[in-house]
Amino acid sequence: MDERHLILAPLRGVTIRCFRAVFADVIREVGFTEAVTPFITANPGLDPLKDRELKTSGDNLDERDGLRLTPQFIGKDPAALRFCLERIKSAGYETADLNCGCPFPMVRNKGRGSGILRTPDVLRRMMEVGCEAMGPGKFSVKTRLGVTRTDELLKLIPMINEFPLRFLTVHARTAEQMYEGKCDLEMMCEVAKQCKVPLVLNGDIPLPDTQQPNSPNTSSLMIGRPFLRYLGEREDIGELLDRYVAASVVELCGERPVIGRLKELLAYWKDLPRWNRRWQVAKLARSLSELKVW
Ligand SMILES: Cc1cc2nc3c(=O)[nH]c(=O)nc-3n(C[C@H](O)[C@H](O)[C@H](O)COP(=O)(O)O)c2cc1C
Repeated sequence: MDERHLILAPLRGVTIRCFRAVFADVIREVGFTEAVTPFITANPGLDPLKDRELKTSGDNLDERDGLRLTPQFIGKDPAALRFCLERIKSAGYETADLNCGCPFPMVRNKGRGSGILRTPDVLRRMMEVGCEAMGPGKFSVKTRLGVTRTDELLKLIPMINEFPLRFLTVHARTAEQMYEGKCDLEMMCEVAKQCKVPLVLNGDIPLPDTQQPNSPNTSSLMIGRPFLRYLGEREDIGELLDRYVAASVVELCGERPVIGRLKELLAYWKDLPRWNRRWQVAKLARSLSELKVW
């Protein structure tokens, strides 16, 4: 990865395929060059091409919109990962990512997501398989600074440096912090000093100023929630939401899952003055007509 990347973060239930298709123009306008899919489970016997994120890969909206799409996998079984990577390669995907950051205790206590940081041998095998199956410079890892301490990743950097990873994305929190509390930027700098693979910074990073594309920041960035909050402030958000509802109605079965999907997004705007009262109404909505607070 030789140039600066701006990557749309995977947010399960939010930055899903339908979202990326409806908001494609805005995603491009902001300068994103790539999106990583919310995680897909790499378990024996599961075909990733049947996942809703990928199953219509023949009509890959993301690629058509000029956005590279990198499927992300979660798991700890190297053979299952290899199977998934071979399947997506056969469908034309060139890059893949491994989730080593999911903080939920149910996931991490089973050694998946951020839990993999506590089993270096498994992490090694997964990186071996990833780099082998996708080829050098085509497989990336997304992780956190640690599970309970911020120095856990740092100790693994010498091993990570052995692999020809495309990049290492680091969310500058521990898994225990979930998505709250301060990012540890000092530790992130320490990781940056020792890490030989290209680093992508993640965690509460503001959107780059699109008016000043030549800003001196040359780091590659991954951004999730700050982009979602920006959407809530756009003048055309009502129109975009109408399109999101319409596309979701076509994709899902019945109003309930559509309402659930929309609430996941609207919740990111509850602290914005413009949405505060609307959210209070929307969160109680039981029909699409009640939900339409915009
Ligand atoms: C609701 C939600 C779902 C998420 N799903 C994923 C996921 O599927 N894969 C992943 O690697 N990270 C996931 N994340 C973490 C984000 O990709 C990102 O690392 C985190 O939100 C910090 O970045 P931000 O401050 O720019 O949002 C999720 C975060 C949230 C809040």
